[in-house]
Amino acid sequence: MFQISKDYAPPFKMIEPFFVLGSIFYFLGTIILLFLHPKSGHFDFSIVGWAHWFLLGFVMMIIFGAMAQLVPVVVEVGHFAVDLYYIIWPLLLLGVLGMVSSFWFAPWLLPYGGLLVLVSMLIFLFETFMTLKKAQNITLTVKTVYWANIFLLIGILSGFFMTLAIGNGFDINLTKWLKAHAMLVLGGYVTLTIIGISMVLLPMFGLAHGFDDKPVNRAFKVMIVGVILYVVSTLISFYFATMLAWIVIFVAIANYFYQIYLIYKVRARKKEDIWSKSMFAGFFSLALAFIFGFFNLFIESEQLLLAVAWFLIVGFFGFLITGHLYKIIPFLVWFERFSPLVGKQKVPMLHEMVPVRDAEFEFYFSASGVVIAGFGLMLGSEDIFKGGVLLLVVGAFFLVKSVFWMLRFK
Ligand code: HEM
Repeated sequence: MFQISKDYAPPFKMIEPFFVLGSIFYFLGTIILLFLHPKSGHFDFSIVGWAHWFLLGFVMMIIFGAMAQLVPVVVEVGHFAVDLYYIIWPLLLLGVLGMVSSFWFAPWLLPYGGLLVLVSMLIFLFETFMTLKKAQNITLTVKTVYWANIFLLIGILSGFFMTLAIGNGFDINLTKWLKAHAMLVLGGYVTLTIIGISMVLLPMFGLAHGFDDKPVNRAFKVMIVGVILYVVSTLISFYFATMLAWIVIFVAIANYFYQIYLIYKVRARKKEDIWSKSMFAGFFSLALAFIFGFFNLFIESEQLLLAVAWFLIVGFFGFLITGHLYKIIPFLVWFERFSPLVGKQKVPMLHEMVPVRDAEFEFYFSASGVVIAGFGLMLGSEDIFKGGVLLLVVGAFFLVKSVFWMLRFK
């Protein structure tokens, strides 16, 4: 599947900053957690600032870098204007730093950082939509990328609207807008993107063919209905429809899980590696978020809500992204440095370009850290939470070490 992209592969130096910055944001993000209090509510600006540090600096930064590589694979044509990626990451970097420091120290400055993030994401969206327009073969992945990007567009506009309100003191119902914004970006963008892209990556890396893909097609459609229903019903305060939207979203995720199980069952590659372990940890975290999220519909508890968000964001998004770094970075480095040498001299195999021991350390420290800190959040125990976070910091250190090792592989 990666082969298709060879003709359209963006230059390595264009994508490298996304992965370097993303992993540094991840590492620093785990350290910052040591200074947060698990009993702060999710409205607290220290938490909102951290959420954007992690989601924009790590999750979105790496998704954007991966998209530079993957969109041509998915669409089977070249980028519309790939050079735009040279300005996306600097704007996003400055924007995240500006936005997060405003949340923490000077909320009235929020619109400035928010504007930089907005511009960087609008450029990304423009480039992606123009590239998608060239698609001949409209696969499920093309459709998910399309819908996910529409949700991202509305999500960032709603985010910017809130920053204007906070920065200028307008009177809007922030509680409703915050819920709509969070659903648009987390459910509508990140989760839908993962659903779409995983249908390319999981069969490719797990060597799975010939499985039924009806469940993921259902998940895709049902998730779109769920996100729209949630956003509209929240903004018009129609509580019954919001509850219904949650049920619809649970049905979508259950279908996605079933699809993952079908792929897992027919996979030809049975050997465990750091990628497959990370996928397992990611889907286990999603299952925890799913179960606790279900209870949260009936038990209103801030601690439970924070634990759901933790397992979804740090566990599910985190492991799916870090696990794929061990596949994508070696491929990019190999393609850049070794593919011209094929046939002329001995070139390394992709699996030799992963620092196995450091990657294992990364995995075990991070996996235990996510679970312990998640339970610390749920119990409201600062000690347990911080103990878990310490493990996560060590794991994140090994991630950064591994990323640099893979990037420097000669
Ligand atoms: C232009 C881009 C963005 C702007 C200006 C923005 C701004 C905001 C603002 C002002 C809030 C509400 C803070 C409050 O009143 O409590 C918020 C909340 C939130 N945003 Fe964004 N945002 C942006 C993009 C994103 C993206 C791309 C994501 C996720 C990938 C995201 C995830 C969240 C989450 C999860 C919350 C809820 C945090 C909490 O309750 O602790 N935002 N955002």
